[in-house]
Amino acid sequence: MNILVVGGGGREHAIIKKLRESTRVEKIYALPGNGGIAADAECVAIGAKDVEGITRFAVENKIDFAVVAPDDPLVLGAVDSLEAAGIPCFGPDKKAAIIEGSKIFSKNLMAKYNIPTAAYRTFTDASEAMEYIKTAPMPTVIKADGLALGKGAVIVETVDEAQNTVRAMMEEKIFGESGTSIVVEEFLTGPEVSVLAFTDGETLVPMVSSMDHKRALDGDAGLNTGGMGTVAPNPYYTEAVAAECMQTIFLPTIRAMQAEGRPFKGCLYFGLMLTPNGPKVIEYNCRFGDPETQVVLPLLQTDLLTIMEAVHDGKLSEVDVQFADASACCVILASNGYPGKYETGFPISVPDELAGQVFFAGAKLQDGVLCSAGGRVLGVTAIARDLKDAIDQAYAAADRISFANAYCRRDIGKRALQALSCKAE
Ligand code: AMP
Ligand code: GLY
Repeated sequence: MNILVVGGGGREHAIIKKLRESTRVEKIYALPGNGGIAADAECVAIGAKDVEGITRFAVENKIDFAVVAPDDPLVLGAVDSLEAAGIPCFGPDKKAAIIEGSKIFSKNLMAKYNIPTAAYRTFTDASEAMEYIKTAPMPTVIKADGLALGKGAVIVETVDEAQNTVRAMMEEKIFGESGTSIVVEEFLTGPEVSVLAFTDGETLVPMVSSMDHKRALDGDAGLNTGGMGTVAPNPYYTEAVAAECMQTIFLPTIRAMQAEGRPFKGCLYFGLMLTPNGPKVIEYNCRFGDPETQVVLPLLQTDLLTIMEAVHDGKLSEVDVQFADASACCVILASNGYPGKYETGFPISVPDELAGQVFFAGAKLQDGVLCSAGGRVLGVTAIARDLKDAIDQAYAAADRISFANAYCRRDIGKRALQALSCKAE
């Protein structure tokens, strides 16, 4: 089969590597992919937001199945456009992708269907938001309604900070139209868990849980990033918590989307916080997480293409989805300075024997040489029977990969290990 994967980051590389394990896959195109992905797929310079270009390419190249991975094309309706052209897809249509595309939609959905989440107010008027914030309990969380490259949530400690944030989002429009409306919500505490789930709109199959590390520096200091590393499974996500999430969050969410006439097909990402009052939803994403995918898919034992087709056909209940009983750790190598200013264009050296476990994000070929080209340059994943070995092996591998200005956190998985040792006591 001819497969098309839309996107060009580490997540897409992990999807492509997994799809390549399928004997039915003949050729994979990545749109746009990147210089590192080029080793595993044919990269075509069509941007992930160019829905028309993607659709035209899919038709002209007789694509049998398409996977739309990033949020932007999903929210823009890439799946609707491809399906209308007769190309079967993995991913939600535009109507369902709104679960990530509008935080106001998702908060109102949770309120209407009693799905646990932080208490909230929504605002479309800056002066009303300013007035409300004067008496809001601090800290509080302010979120832009629309997509904002994962930077649209700001935790504020004082009224001054809150007002500056409202002004920046609603008046100065630092996130463009995404900040025209905002959500102000209760600050929650507790360990965070990412759960990705396959769903065909009726059946929902959670994947192995994971833990992201969003801050740039060790000890969860520094600015928020797209994610500096992940481990799976997440030790806080016990079987009891998983059972509770299934009943109070996962199934109610897919039923709610059905009831709203927006059945969700694809990968639904639940960003959860395990609060003292039970698990609550911090955010929904309409797609695989990045870099969660780089630890979750390597543990998947079932043929990914078979699962994706079953999701498309509404037959997920017929597939036995299995994950390895093992742990995985992914360490991101970034350009020093990320998520602020950084330099790129440095040659990347990866030993051949590590190629299978490296997922490229910000990388491009310059005169045939693979060079750094972004903030997050690559992720390297190791799998082992237990978490400690997975972490040690991921760092051992990361230390053998080099490019000028490379930076990584040295404590990916540390909190997860501590949680495991508490459990064992
Ligand atoms: P989001 O963009 O909604 O995923 O939020 C980014 C990060 O901000 C999350 O991973 C949390 O660490 C934090 N966050 C978001 N909402 C809340 C909340 N209501 N209470 C505490 N932390 C939050
Ligand atoms: N790792 C967080 C996300 O993919 O949104």
